[in-house]
Amino acid sequence: MTKETINIGLIGYGTVGKGVVRILKSSSKIIIGKVGKPIEVKSICDINPIDKTELYVKDFRQIIKDPDIDLIVELIGGYEPARTIIIESLKAGKNVVTANKAALAKFWGEIYTAIQTYQKSVYYEAAVGGAIPVIAGLTEGLAGEEILEIKGILNGTTNFILSKMTKDALDYKSALKEAQSAGFAETDPSFDVNGIDTANKLAILASLAWGSWIKVKDISVSGIADLDIKDVSLTKRNGSIKLIGSAVKMKNGIDLSVQPCFIGKEHPFSSVRDEYNAVMIKGKNSGDVLFYGKGAGQGPAASAVVSDIINLSQFMVTNTKGIIPDIIYDPKIKNQILPFSKSKAAYYLRFTVSDKPGVFAKLADILGKHKVSIASLSQPNISRGDFADIVIITHPSVLEDLNSALKEIKSLRSIIKSAPVKIKIETF
Ligand code: HSE
Repeated sequence: MTKETINIGLIGYGTVGKGVVRILKSSSKIIIGKVGKPIEVKSICDINPIDKTELYVKDFRQIIKDPDIDLIVELIGGYEPARTIIIESLKAGKNVVTANKAALAKFWGEIYTAIQTYQKSVYYEAAVGGAIPVIAGLTEGLAGEEILEIKGILNGTTNFILSKMTKDALDYKSALKEAQSAGFAETDPSFDVNGIDTANKLAILASLAWGSWIKVKDISVSGIADLDIKDVSLTKRNGSIKLIGSAVKMKNGIDLSVQPCFIGKEHPFSSVRDEYNAVMIKGKNSGDVLFYGKGAGQGPAASAVVSDIINLSQFMVTNTKGIIPDIIYDPKIKNQILPFSKSKAAYYLRFTVSDKPGVFAKLADILGKHKVSIASLSQPNISRGDFADIVIITHPSVLEDLNSALKEIKSLRSIIKSAPVKIKIETF
């Protein structure tokens, strides 16, 4: 590449986009040192016209078509027109940097086919875990590993909300508001709280790990919106509840889930608070490798985008190809996905029941009948009035057995006050 500068076309000028422009300026010396020439933002496109009129372009197609632009940075999020921008940029012979986990997870096959067809690259370190270099860690750092497990706290907003609810006894709505004003949440925060954002990120990591496109629809997803503050406070003496994305390679397939889990104090995830994320990847030879850092917010996300821009620029300057090394994408590879109902784990169960003789025995009887074995049983609060909370910790049980037991218990209208609560206990 003989040009004096690398020119960027930035599509999407929100929280992360503004952070990217800021870091590109403040790190200009580092950039010249690493790339050998400056990186400049030549054009910016956003749905809202921006004040920097000399850079503002109304139509993103103009940026993609501009022969003087070397690299497209897509930061608008969502499915469309993000998908079109990524595909059309590759078609136009341009490398792409994106933070868009939703589009990657949904259009993985199409994007990787376009990467292979047009021999250009898409880098997306910011899409998973904010500033944590987990994509590079997985694809390069663990390139030779047979990956056995990926587990992670992958959403900063929900982790922030759960931390505030646990530590500061803040209610759910106020905690979410705080996360939104700190710039952690998605434009539509239901993606954060219903677990979809975590599922998008898990799908990306699992697809990288196992060489086939793992789809969000293959993942059993539940979020934190229905969590009861009572369970947050009942569990906080021994640990905390966190939203965990989990992908485990079993003998006959991959087990995939996103759900709130109880994390004991001895677990490394237990000290991951606020907007921090952590990802634990188990390789056959490496054993557990832990990645940790800020998973949301302008600085962390923009930092990862700038790293991708620098890495791709280095490839462009040296005329090397720059497809993310070590990625396998082969549509012929099929991974078996295990039905979630067959997964086995220990659970925290809470029942709000009539406080009268024989109720403990009845619950224990039904659980036993469905092959759910009890590890411990307690009535944590002194009963106030007619109802009491009973907390049961189970031994590892098959989910469908447990669900059948809970269905039967729920139907005991004379003793059950509200739907039983079940939270998976994550072990380490
Ligand atoms: N809304 C996301 C989160 C931003 O809270 O983690 C980073 O992907």
